[in-house]
Amino acid sequence: MTQKNYNLEFETISVRGASGGDKTTGAISYPIYQSATFKHPELNKSTGYDYSRTSNPTREEVEKTLNLLEGGLGALAFSTGVAAITACIHLFKPGDHIIISEDLYGGTFRLFNDIYSIYGIKSSFIDTSDINKVKNEILENTKCIFIETPSNPLMRVSDISLISNICKNKNLILIVDNTFLTPYFQKPLLLGADIVVHSGTKFLGGHNDVLAGFIVSNNENILKKLKVIQNSTGATLSSFDSWLILRGLKTLHIRLEKSQENAIVLANYLKGNKNIEKVYYVGLEDHIGYKVNSLQSTGFGSMISFRVKNKDIISKILKELKVIAFAESLGGVETLITYPHTQTHSEIPKGLKDKLGVDENLLRISVGIENINDLIKDLERVLED
Ligand SMILES: Cc1ncc(COP(=O)(O)O)c(C=O)c1O
Repeated sequence: MTQKNYNLEFETISVRGASGGDKTTGAISYPIYQSATFKHPELNKSTGYDYSRTSNPTREEVEKTLNLLEGGLGALAFSTGVAAITACIHLFKPGDHIIISEDLYGGTFRLFNDIYSIYGIKSSFIDTSDINKVKNEILENTKCIFIETPSNPLMRVSDISLISNICKNKNLILIVDNTFLTPYFQKPLLLGADIVVHSGTKFLGGHNDVLAGFIVSNNENILKKLKVIQNSTGATLSSFDSWLILRGLKTLHIRLEKSQENAIVLANYLKGNKNIEKVYYVGLEDHIGYKVNSLQSTGFGSMISFRVKNKDIISKILKELKVIAFAESLGGVETLITYPHTQTHSEIPKGLKDKLGVDENLLRISVGIENINDLIKDLERVLED
């Protein structure tokens, strides 16, 4: 699993994958090893592969490729992002306490709050963009800080290096969900994080056609434990889905540049619209996290949330948009609009949603790579009629 190779540039690794194709046949596209099990040459001998839950060549290729892109020591691929986060939680035991960004994907909230609380894992949800709040929340039994930055859906930015210094002093594991920016724009492990998690369903896959999750770490000990957890809990990524992610990664840099270019134009358009009260996009200079995000990443990504002045226009917007699809998820080539209040964040208790501002006036857009004029015209039609 241990692997370090920084000789090639990011874009080259994305395109070639870790192995640069299939060594045995010369196939440029890495083969899909669609086999549940592998034949042993004789007793006590193995080809290195026994059973695909434990390891599979196509899955290993995508794991190695993402690991190189994130600058880690090893990566593990899971069937979904939530499965990857679940595996991380299995590093902890009853009584352990985890500090978590309060603004984050609703499914992650549900996992900690509704599922793992039953097994005695304690969690506090706080504003991790405020470093004093992070310091004040640390208890005797705190073992981990889990952050999303930029966060979903309010695009709060947490300072990875500052939080990592706190974690190192207190012997805590820092986990960063890097789904929104991907290693193309942000490399948390190089800023001091111990573990990066991804919903590979989003930008890594990039085409809204596959569910996947990843863990990358630069800590040998953590990786060893996670490999056992991955095999034991069993939510591994299939060989075909591994191949889809390998294919998605080939264009990650091109897609992210284009969707960010579109997002900057779209965020500025929304900012100037009379029906919009506030736009949340880390690429806007007046965004509260602009400075920290600029220091710790090389881009802003393409996730935008915005608050309309009058919630009565929400249903019209969602019904009448024609190019932008009203659908959950994000990070694909297609532009999607989501209503976090009842979709991605439905599981967050009303009190917390109201406190955060994930209310009935908030919409979230994942900007794709279509022609920007078509996206703006689509929004103009529903916002300005
Ligand atoms: C930031 C973030 N992390 C994790 C997840 C969970 O990923 P998945 O849906 O692949 O399980 C999501 C899903 O929307 C997400 O937005």
